[in-house]
Amino acid sequence: MNRSHTIDDKAEIQKQWDRDPCGAVTADNAEAESAAWYESVRRHRYEVYAPWMPGAMRFEDWKERDVLEIGVGLGSDHLSLALAGSRMHALDLSAEHLRHTRKHLAAHALQTEGVLGDAEANPFPDASFDLVYSFGVLHHTPDTARAVREVLRVLRPGGTALIGLYHRDSWFFWLWTVLFRGVLRCGIPKKGWRRLLSEIEYRSADNPAVPLVKVYSRPGAAALFTGFEDVRTSVHHVEAGHFPPPFSWLLRPFSRPTLERWLGFGGWYVIVRARKAAG
Ligand SMILES: C[S@@+](CC[C@H](N)C(=O)[O-])C[C@H]1O[C@@H](n2cnc3c(N)ncnc32)[C@H](O)[C@@H]1O
Repeated sequence: MNRSHTIDDKAEIQKQWDRDPCGAVTADNAEAESAAWYESVRRHRYEVYAPWMPGAMRFEDWKERDVLEIGVGLGSDHLSLALAGSRMHALDLSAEHLRHTRKHLAAHALQTEGVLGDAEANPFPDASFDLVYSFGVLHHTPDTARAVREVLRVLRPGGTALIGLYHRDSWFFWLWTVLFRGVLRCGIPKKGWRRLLSEIEYRSADNPAVPLVKVYSRPGAAALFTGFEDVRTSVHHVEAGHFPPPFSWLLRPFSRPTLERWLGFGGWYVIVRARKAAG
């Protein structure tokens, strides 16, 4: 039997992120889970990892609006939206991520309504939100199209979906993952496709999780948003480490914004912005 059919994908998601919260390895040496620790993770996200993010996401647009974030991690984007004045709600399969996000917001005297649950069976009522935001999440769930239909259902007429997915036609996917790790280092025959891709996610040595990882072309990502109107995609996120040597060495002296300008069309995230019809 094909092993992928026997894997419980939702259990793998919980194993992966309950044990290794997303982005925790980027924290500085402040006391774990202190306000300074969360702040160092958030600073790393917007200053080092993805400086393109605040400009592309425009968190400040959602003041006094009802926002659902699906897949919250340590709560960095959740906090950005809350600081902008949004009324925040969180949905995640990881109880740890919900706990971290509540704690991160509490450090700023802010709150969120967190629900442990599955984006494919979204527990929120129809027409509840002005924005559904999700970054780096829905490519891990087996039925992404169903999760996007649920996004449409919980949005109010005229509401916006802002969803970031892994981009197939990227330097990181074709050059680093497929060519370098998969073919030249024999990762495909040695580990198999699912494990090779799952190792894109940081995992500590004793974490046995093998989370599902899928990738989308720009048209493939847009096609998930059937039933929405004004579906737009953009591509972001390039770093020198997305290229195999010697290209990575040659690119290392350049800043992320410079690489983004030159090579951003092959970035690792495709961002979809789509609107639910007004009524
Ligand atoms: C890679 S982390 C990204 C977290 C955060 N957005 C960030 O960028 O740091 C993926 C998150 O999505 C959640 N997740 C994956 N599939 C899900 C699903 N079907 N329903 C709810 N949450 C899901 C995981 O539990 C995890 O919190």
